[in-house]
Amino acid sequence: MLENKRILMIIGGGIAAYKSLELIRRLQDKGASVRAILTEGGSQFITPLSVSSLTGDKCYTDLFSLTDEAEMGHIRLSREADLLLVCPATADLMASMAHGLARDLASTALLATDKPVMICPSMNVQMWQHPATQRNVGTLRKDGIIQIGPEDGDMACGEVGSGRLAEVPNIVAAVEDFFRAAEAQPLAGRHALVTAGPTWEAIDPVRYIANHSSGRQGYAIAEALARLGARTTLVSGPTNLAAPAGVETINITSARDMEAACHGALPADIAICVAAVADWRVDSEAQSKVKKDGGAPPSLTLVENPDILAGLCNAGNKRPALVIGFAAETDNVVDYATAKRKRKGCDWIVANDVSPATGIMGGENNRVHLISEQSCEDWAEGAKDDVARQLADRIAAHFESQEAAQ
Ligand code: C5P
Repeated sequence: MLENKRILMIIGGGIAAYKSLELIRRLQDKGASVRAILTEGGSQFITPLSVSSLTGDKCYTDLFSLTDEAEMGHIRLSREADLLLVCPATADLMASMAHGLARDLASTALLATDKPVMICPSMNVQMWQHPATQRNVGTLRKDGIIQIGPEDGDMACGEVGSGRLAEVPNIVAAVEDFFRAAEAQPLAGRHALVTAGPTWEAIDPVRYIANHSSGRQGYAIAEALARLGARTTLVSGPTNLAAPAGVETINITSARDMEAACHGALPADIAICVAAVADWRVDSEAQSKVKKDGGAPPSLTLVENPDILAGLCNAGNKRPALVIGFAAETDNVVDYATAKRKRKGCDWIVANDVSPATGIMGGENNRVHLISEQSCEDWAEGAKDDVARQLADRIAAHFESQEAAQ
């Protein structure tokens, strides 16, 4: 399963470092070739000699070693791998990664790499639960880093709880899953266009009309599609989110900018309009700040914005093969969304209940119904990332079944 796979293992300074030796062996059993970087902390627990005896290669330890740089610099080391596997990932190593520090060979290789990174955290339960560690874990997840464990149980420090290194067979299985998924790439060769976030419609140079969309769901969908191999273009209104890994992100402000960017990104096989586009804009944007001069408040004349979703559905021979809209509703969710799907001409619509009682709008979770011409499915409430993965899987399945039918 791991035949010809090159894994760069980064061994941090924790007691679980001894298990990394077993892990090297088990990965080799599956056919992987393993190189290893041992941090200074790691070398307090296991020796470079044990590591190099198992890898059959030098054990890399020193950022500034002239011989290492001559033989294999940190950049090459980090790129001549298919996967970087940090095991054990200590709190300190994760903090360095989250903050982009490059203070030793391990953290520098992690910063210099363009390859996927998997971390296997292992530490004392309090260190794991500390808000700083949890913040760093959140950052690493957003950066697209894959996390295995930690598991619950007894720890070397005598405490019990979450923080144990995942069992070696579980790490091996996760590595195999990773390569299986990477090879599957069911959307490879397809182009996906995703809109996300709000739009801002200017009133004058300092004021605008906006809405509460966070952009999270659209960003998560773009990332999930990219993970399945789609070349993904995300056209995003103003948000506080970092551009998702592996996605071409085009930042725009107004609905008309979004429309132009979307049409500029065609042709696409898939279009998913998740953006909360402002329905109206001010008819004529004032060129200088509207003054409060003591008289009657100014009145704004609104005009309708272009409907980007409907425009993509009606793009003639440039219409993406699968166009998906979103419908945020506060009542009669399925009925309104079903009607909206027909009116706009899209293939599927994802309907969600954003009535204030659900707390969905702007939150971490989503609860949606997937509506097509043939069916309406109710999906269980889940994290926006999970909804995104589920939708991306459905899209991949849709194209697979179409290909099978041809
Ligand atoms: O009409 P309504 O805003 O309820 O429709 C929601 C769907 O239409 C979403 O997919 C949204 O991204 C899209 N939309 C759009 N352009 C607009 C308004 C909505 O693409 N001007």
